[in-house]
Amino acid sequence: MIPESFIQELLSRVDIVDVVERYITLKKAGANYHACCPFHSEKTPSFTVSASKQFYHCFGCGAHGSAIGFVMQYAGLDFIEAVEELANSLGIAVPREVNARSQEKAKQQPLAERMGHAARFYKDQLKVSPVAIDYLKGRGLTGEIAARYGLGYAPDDWQGLQQVFGDYADPAMVECGLVIQNEQGRRYDRFRDRIMFPIQDQRGNVIGFGGRVLDQGEPKYLNSPETPLFRKGEELYGLPQARKAIQNQNMVLVVEGYMDVVGLAQNGVENVVATLGTAATGINVQRLIRLADRVVFCFDRDSAGDRAARRAMEVSLEHLVDGKSVEMLQLDGTQDPDEFVREHGQEAFIEQTRNATRLSDFLVRKLLQESNTRTAEGRAKLVSEAKPLLQRISAPVLRVQITKEVARHAQLSQAELEGQCGIKPLARSRSFGHSAPSPGRARPAPNSLVHTLLLTVLRRPERAARLPLDLIARDSAEGEALLAVADAVEHAALSGNNLGLLLEHFRGSPHEEIIALLAAQVEADAGDEGKQEEIFADTLERLRVMALRHRIDELNAKARSGVLTTEERRSLADLLARKSH
Ligand code: UTP
Ligand code: MN
Repeated sequence: MIPESFIQELLSRVDIVDVVERYITLKKAGANYHACCPFHSEKTPSFTVSASKQFYHCFGCGAHGSAIGFVMQYAGLDFIEAVEELANSLGIAVPREVNARSQEKAKQQPLAERMGHAARFYKDQLKVSPVAIDYLKGRGLTGEIAARYGLGYAPDDWQGLQQVFGDYADPAMVECGLVIQNEQGRRYDRFRDRIMFPIQDQRGNVIGFGGRVLDQGEPKYLNSPETPLFRKGEELYGLPQARKAIQNQNMVLVVEGYMDVVGLAQNGVENVVATLGTAATGINVQRLIRLADRVVFCFDRDSAGDRAARRAMEVSLEHLVDGKSVEMLQLDGTQDPDEFVREHGQEAFIEQTRNATRLSDFLVRKLLQESNTRTAEGRAKLVSEAKPLLQRISAPVLRVQITKEVARHAQLSQAELEGQCGIKPLARSRSFGHSAPSPGRARPAPNSLVHTLLLTVLRRPERAARLPLDLIARDSAEGEALLAVADAVEHAALSGNNLGLLLEHFRGSPHEEIIALLAAQVEADAGDEGKQEEIFADTLERLRVMALRHRIDELNAKARSGVLTTEERRSLADLLARKSH
């Protein structure tokens, strides 16, 4: 492990402009340098290098990063090789150390290696199991697709893995979920006589498995348990294989099952992933809308599929941002995506995706199914069903659009419906007026505030020192990332404007992806610094006001049930006084 202090030193000594110029020719244009992007083919230059930020970014393909990132991407080196390459060019040696993070990684390492090892074993076993091969062939899969998804076969043997794990008795085998220990202390393979679907993380490491029975048996699919490597609510099956196609089409299709992913890929639909067992989570949705502008959920037409669709709609409402589209697809007929594409082919399937229902229409359609709007009672029911959903919507413009539509069906004006639901209309959303706090009032989506803060902090990391840390919730990836940046700025001395440095600090951490993404956004949009400062200060103020109002609501609610302590009463008076300033 290379100590972080060395990475920082290295990045403050190399100049990204020099580094990039070793590989391609740059042309100065204003404060930045331009070139035709080396990472995609283009005729007019959209690749820029910023000397002040020590960061490169391509407006065409989105490639971006620090000097280290450039060398990795251009020369195809891994992180350590790229660091060595840069250190060599400066004539300095790369020190090594064992620090806390590498120890944590080291703890995961054996588990990760074990999973990879097991995946290879299952894959080899598939080659020598005619029954398993026939099963996959019978489902229309070629060897090529089986290899692409790393499919395997767990032999019908209680301790099959013993063949390749000399330390079968090691507790790590249980910890990574490959082996089960019964009450008598006897150990055996979790997966036996099953087709194995390895689940990979974004980098392609195997972190879990799904195993399908070959014939009728229960359960149909057996999955790895949650382990230090594998968090079901966060991962998307098939992502590494789908990434390129998702990028090319700017669309990601989300299905329910392993076989749907593999079956679609077999038939030429490659931009497809599956959520794992459970319905879509907030983390899934956040990740999906970062992958592409268009997310299409395709659920089976059964009651489980309906529940999953409803749940996906709810979490999507919370995480959707204006400009992105979430859609719901119900295939004609009763087949699941795998069956559909096998019978009707790629073209017919793609045609179906064109007819997917936008989230807004899906929501309204669901509401109308549940209430009879021809009667006053039915319309009242419609409003009460709609209320919690409308309150969830984080994207302001979308919320207005949907509110309008629901209002029309409820025979209310938009303002009346907004009043009923405690939603603030768009134009007035910045005035914190005198209206009495109502308990159901929809607050400005906290995520969007945190998002803005993170963006403005990435523009100028020293701003992190001004964040009210106790008001930033950890309930989103962005909240977590913002707190991590604040911590890094405080403890790792990452202030200043060196975005490349900050990016390297988070390499390999759970925040890497989101920080890299927003950093690219910052770089893409030059923006004027005075305006940015205004936005930052304004957002901090909104966050404080929100917290204040939240606390006042709480105390007011408590006061209504008549049990405020003297302390609380004083505090409420104090808060109300502060609010009126
Ligand atoms: P389905 O029952 O719809 O199966 O489960 P499928 O995807 O059509 O599979 P095939 O075509 O019969 O092989 C959908 C998903 O639900 C989870 C799995 O993730 C599966 O891919 N599941 C299902 C389980 O985890 N366990 C089960 O027993 C069944
Ligand atoms: Mn199926």
